[in-house]
Amino acid sequence: MYFPAYRPRRLRKNENFRRLTRETRLSVDDLIYPLFVVEGKGIKKPIDSMPGNYQMSVDNLVKEVREAKALGIPGVLLFGIPEKKDEVASGAFAENGVIQKAVKKVKDAVPDILVITDVCLCEYTSHGHCGMLKGGEVDNDTTVEVLAETAVSQARAGADMVAPSAMMDGQVGAIRDGLDEAGFEAVPIMAYSAKYASCFYGPFREAAESAPQFGDRKAYQMDPPNVVEAVREIGLDIEEGADIIMVKPALPYLDVIRTAREEFDLPIAAYNVSGEFAMIKAAARLGWLDGERAMMEALTAIKRAGADIILTYFAKDAAKLLQSGKP
Ligand code: PBG
Repeated sequence: MYFPAYRPRRLRKNENFRRLTRETRLSVDDLIYPLFVVEGKGIKKPIDSMPGNYQMSVDNLVKEVREAKALGIPGVLLFGIPEKKDEVASGAFAENGVIQKAVKKVKDAVPDILVITDVCLCEYTSHGHCGMLKGGEVDNDTTVEVLAETAVSQARAGADMVAPSAMMDGQVGAIRDGLDEAGFEAVPIMAYSAKYASCFYGPFREAAESAPQFGDRKAYQMDPPNVVEAVREIGLDIEEGADIIMVKPALPYLDVIRTAREEFDLPIAAYNVSGEFAMIKAAARLGWLDGERAMMEALTAIKRAGADIILTYFAKDAAKLLQSGKP
């Protein structure tokens, strides 16, 4: 059917036609809200490059999680910033570590929201790399052991799901084994499977105080031009026991999300990272973009590309807007 018999504009004529023919619908059910926790009390320190996001002590974190729950957000992803960092990331798996304490408190206070923990070492190492160093390089296999120990300690604290993001080979398998041996066979793994060495993590590194003190992460995170390799990475994680696979960042990698959707049948998460958030916030602040519309368009695009789950600092804003029925 061609013009003039077919006129696509007929079904765009008004909002009711558009509602009936809309293919993708963003829902609060899709969202995970990332949060940063620090030691102490009464702390709520704004993160300059991520307006509306804070480093929070547990008391304030609990309030924030309550708010997320009230808005209907199904899960939060917690990042811990320890008081002391060292060469071997001791804070990552300490029974009394910042994240372990936070998970316990949050689960006690707000049981009915998923508490997901980031499994990585960069927030805990003095050098800021995601693993243990050997001869100036990140050593894969010792790191994997520490990651497994970290995941088990988080599960022991009550985490509902663990999310390994260090991009070490074999990390998902080692974490699955560790969890199973410790009796946490029911705790799922959301694997950062295709995580790229991206400049869009810039603001996060300010938030988590996790910038590498030398070099970069290119020797473990993926090379941005690659997508065939992403399929291989995701396939490996699935074989090792991933329950949810993730592509990160989201917006500059929509093709990777789409490819993953076509290749695999597991739930797919996409991380709308700090830099993607900061760009929209900055442009809105300057009056160069309509911030709300840009947010909704971006999140909808991530879903349209094939993501089932979106990790985003916009979670609360988007949930409020969806609740208002405006979009
Ligand atoms: C690593 C980790 C990072 C992010 C999530 N987990 C940073 C990195 O790899 O440097 C980035 C998230 C974001 O930018 O929002 N622990």
